[in-house]
Amino acid sequence: MLVYIHVPFCRTRCNYCAFHSIPLGGGVESAASPLLRDYVDTLLLELAHWGDRLNGAAVQSVFFGGGTPSLLPPRIVGIVLERLARCFTLSSKAEITLEANPESLRGGQSVQQYLAAGVNRLSIGIQSLDESMLRLLGRPHRAQDSLHAVFTAREAGCANINMDLMWGLPGLSVRQWLQTLKDAVRMSPDHISAYGLTLEPGTPLERD
Ligand SMILES: C[S@@+](CC[C@H](N)C(=O)[O-])C[C@H]1O[C@@H](n2cnc3c(N)ncnc32)[C@H](O)[C@@H]1O
Ligand code: SF4
Repeated sequence: MLVYIHVPFCRTRCNYCAFHSIPLGGGVESAASPLLRDYVDTLLLELAHWGDRLNGAAVQSVFFGGGTPSLLPPRIVGIVLERLARCFTLSSKAEITLEANPESLRGGQSVQQYLAAGVNRLSIGIQSLDESMLRLLGRPHRAQDSLHAVFTAREAGCANINMDLMWGLPGLSVRQWLQTLKDAVRMSPDHISAYGLTLEPGTPLERD
């Protein structure tokens, strides 16, 4: 079984995104943020509830998706995984993925702490390595931050890295897209997820 854990917080909202998430602005790092605390308390209860209802079913895969799961401090991710292991039968070989945004992965120390907490795969939201496209998408990071995040994750010992990229963006030429792909491949990720843009109703990009 796969357990998907949605972390519904982001620093800011990107122009194209319709995933459920609450923009927390500057106060996100604080584990004491009341919203974050309520979320974690409720998540721990949900895990106990579903573990009970599903008789501690075997889990081969855990995915922290978002939103921006890398806004959760590693200590909290560790507590969530401990609860999961107590309520379900978590395989020792389980793939445990955390979605991370480049700007929130600046320090190698936090990657090491996520790995120590049990995460063994990072899915990093690169989206584009073209500065004009990053601005159009409303991403809060630069291409350099992405390169640095992947490099840092590798250096810190993460053996399984996915990069999310987006294509079909307004004004993105085939030449720019190929350049982004070449730059991405040069970073030797284990996997690339390439998403064609969906213009989601009500988003700023769709309105534009
Ligand atoms: C759950 S989202 C969020 C991951 C993470 N918060 C981030 O932004 O890097 C996972 C991926 O879906 C893709 N995505 C989100 N909205 C999209 C859209 N409207 N069209 C195509 N891909 C989209 C992006 O590549 C994103 O990295
Ligand atoms: S793309 Fe990622 S960071 Fe941007 S608003 Fe959506 S979930 Fe948040």
